[in-house]
Amino acid sequence: MKLLVFAGSTRSGSFNRRLAREAAAMARAAGAEVTHIELGDFDVPMYNADAEAIATPPDVMKLKQVFHDHPAWIVCTPEYNASYPALLKNLLDWLSSPVRGDPVWSDDFRFSRGKVVGVLSASPGALGGLRSQSHLIPLLFNLHCWVAPQTYALGRAGDAFDPAGKLVDDRARARVQGVIDQVLHAAARLHTP
Ligand SMILES: Cc1cc2nc3c(=O)[nH]c(=O)nc-3n(C[C@H](O)[C@H](O)[C@H](O)COP(=O)(O)O)c2cc1C
Repeated sequence: MKLLVFAGSTRSGSFNRRLAREAAAMARAAGAEVTHIELGDFDVPMYNADAEAIATPPDVMKLKQVFHDHPAWIVCTPEYNASYPALLKNLLDWLSSPVRGDPVWSDDFRFSRGKVVGVLSASPGALGGLRSQSHLIPLLFNLHCWVAPQTYALGRAGDAFDPAGKLVDDRARARVQGVIDQVLHAAARLHTP
């Protein structure tokens, strides 16, 4: 199963980027063919319909294809003001916007329709960014994704990783594994060749 893993943060010390790295390693160990991307490696400007009318940015075109090529995704979202960050909203807005004059990308949801998505979050707070999930999940439904019923919010994230970036708590690791397993299980059934 081809699994795409990404975090909604570009911060150097990001807890969600660490969580994404851990989830990617755990999914690889579970047999998935994992692509782990860093959003900071892509040039995605703030969405602007006038700029888009001239051309969709090359990295947006690249990401549309990457997302399309993976039947399963794991997203690790920070929580900003009880919601998910603008970085994720901006990315998903760009990816869902049809490309003018391009028949392949005229369908808003070509990149996302039918994807099985696991949602993780991490925050230094006690709730682990749980409220960001409650906003992100309806957006994923709007994109015609299947969201795995198991999710996990990693609280007190400042204490959750060792210096090598490994999750220190076995219960946290088991919860992340539970989300990964559910995503891979559902994607294998929904995306039979
Ligand atoms: C504008 C802003 C709003 C935030 N709001 C929340 C919040 O509502 N709940 C929360 O738990 N943390 C909140 N935080 C703290 C983030 O959870 C914290 O910065 C976290 O480390 C961001 O994720 P990252 O480590 O993956 O970059 C906020 C941070 C910023 C910059």
